[in-house]
Amino acid sequence: MNKQKKHAGEFAATLIEDGMVVGLGTGSTIAYFLEALAKRIQDEKMTIIGVTTSTKTARCAEELGIPIRDIDLVPMIDLTIDGADEVDQHLNGIKGGGAAFLMEKIVARYSRRVIWIIDEQKLHSKLGQFPLPVEVVAFGSGKLIAELKERHLHPKLRLDNHQQPLVTDLGHYIVDLDLEQIDQPFELGRYLDGQIGIVEHGLFLNVADQVIIGQDEGYRIMN
Ligand code: 5RP
Repeated sequence: MNKQKKHAGEFAATLIEDGMVVGLGTGSTIAYFLEALAKRIQDEKMTIIGVTTSTKTARCAEELGIPIRDIDLVPMIDLTIDGADEVDQHLNGIKGGGAAFLMEKIVARYSRRVIWIIDEQKLHSKLGQFPLPVEVVAFGSGKLIAELKERHLHPKLRLDNHQQPLVTDLGHYIVDLDLEQIDQPFELGRYLDGQIGIVEHGLFLNVADQVIIGQDEGYRIMN
């Protein structure tokens, strides 16, 4: 059990109001949030609709009895609760450790508010210690990786447990960029946005409205 993740997840569940459409992120911190939310739904007879960001979260929500609906069947998402892999003091972050960042970015885009739940270890003054994931089309991915290598972006194709390229929920590959430190995240984001074959990257800039940082005792909030 990770106390910090649990405290962040449980507090986030108290922010959900009856009738809300809620974006449900992906990851081990979100697992604590989903459990706490399911308990509130049952205990308080709350009606909420969840919009999931991965097949893993959809399965988990179904098992816990959290009602879910396709993103295209809801007018707007009121609040999305998601995890993150790294966050700086400007509330910019890297996501994608769980390979779900493409769906997570789409859900965030159509959310009125986005809150991330993290543990203390994920706070850094600069992004980049966590390898930056990039979701790419399988076709031509070798060529793209070679180009990223030439630009000194240190790309590495993510593999699954069978040492095969990991395939995302939406059928793409993931390339992790081992950058150590990202000095110009917006510039890097623009460069990656412009590359043919790159579907999306894990830089989430100006996306989160608030970050809840779980602590050993309780939590704190960063705005
Ligand atoms: C998945 C993500 C997750 O939110 C991120 O990896 C954090 O995961 P965890 O809560 O397990 O540390 O971006 O794509």
